[in-house]
Amino acid sequence: MSILLTGGAGYIGSHIAVELLEAGFDTVLFDSLANSSRSVVERIERITGRAPEFVCGDINDAAAVRSVFERHDIDCVIHLAGLKSVPESAAKPMEYYRCNVGGMLTLLEAMAAAGVRRIVFSSSATVYGTSGEIPYTEETPTGCTNPYGRTKLMCEEILRDCAAADGEFSAVLLRYFNPIGAHPSGLIGEDPRGVPNNLMPYITRVAVGALEKLTVFGGDYPTRDGTGVRDYLHVVDLARGHVRAVDYAMGHAGARAFNLGTGKGVSVLEMVRAFERASGVKIPYVIGPRRAGDIAEYYADCSLAGRELGWKAELTLDDMCRDSWNWQKRNPDGYGDKA
Ligand code: NAD
Ligand code: UD1
Repeated sequence: MSILLTGGAGYIGSHIAVELLEAGFDTVLFDSLANSSRSVVERIERITGRAPEFVCGDINDAAAVRSVFERHDIDCVIHLAGLKSVPESAAKPMEYYRCNVGGMLTLLEAMAAAGVRRIVFSSSATVYGTSGEIPYTEETPTGCTNPYGRTKLMCEEILRDCAAADGEFSAVLLRYFNPIGAHPSGLIGEDPRGVPNNLMPYITRVAVGALEKLTVFGGDYPTRDGTGVRDYLHVVDLARGHVRAVDYAMGHAGARAFNLGTGKGVSVLEMVRAFERASGVKIPYVIGPRRAGDIAEYYADCSLAGRELGWKAELTLDDMCRDSWNWQKRNPDGYGDKA
């Protein structure tokens, strides 16, 4: 069975490629390398002993996307290609709508032309907005506060409409919570450009001495230690969730959303301590003001994914910290050749 991964050279896509190849699937990675490195492909091969197909192209280039389906017999698509920074989406909304929503339309048209009707989509817990009770279930009301989140919600709605119009269409909407960690080999991991926005890559950059200290965004939230609480999950667990989602898509029609998290909340200070334990490196930090748009606390109810996909996160917070550190330590400059 052959799976197309758009955005397959990225952080999450590369880990999914490893799990799919190890599970016996063939994979085609389609990526513009806008936020990834060509050397990922060779590293995936080093881990799995199997080379994924790689096509460099833009998800909005209709001819390039169509030609992938003409040259490969694709059974299911995992659609990860897109832009993902919340602050950047507020500054450049049109780029986000063009890439994330326009890219989804281009992909769906190419799928329709090729008769491919199974898709797994990278959605986000960000679709839940700010008003829900925790833990978030798939029934928690949606409502986004930024253009990035709105692109994810719009893509979900587009996929629901496709499923409503075609009884054989299958869309699995995976709402990721906070993926961190890296493959235990240390060969692939997260490699953000410039100063990271997200907590774990910031901590690992402090640990290697590339950044001086962590600023904790807010110490006065109504949480157990005053700092923000999130549901962090290991990227390898998340990748395995996609293998289950592909199986589900092959056997079920319709559009269905699933939360992928651990179901446990971890505060910023708990994360700092866990990282120090795993790495033996002290992380200097200061408590600063809250970051605009942040929510105090949320985590997932993942029971639906357990029941329907047969998936549950297995790896611990210590595993996440150990593997994030192993990746950063072995690759202090990331891939070093990002386009
Ligand atoms: P990433 O940036 O590492 O991966 C995205 C990939 O898409 C990159 O390799 C990039 O080069 C590629 N890409 C970007 N624009 C493209 C275009 N126009 N055409 C073709 N390829 C293009 O990000 P990631 O963390 O691996 O995220 C993957 C997906 O998961 C994204 O859709 C993201 O929104 C979603 N997501 C990520 C997180 C997270 O915390 N990392 C959380 C929720 C959802
Ligand atoms: C952010 C995005 C979200 C996206 C997710 C995963 C925002 C508002 N939300 O979520 O849409 O899906 O990333 O990519 O950007 N923190 C610090 N100091 C730092 C960095 C973070 O204290 O330098 C804190 C934050 O305030 C938060 C926690 O760490 O409490 C996690 O932050 P982050 O990793 O950015 O993820 P989210 O804010 O959950």
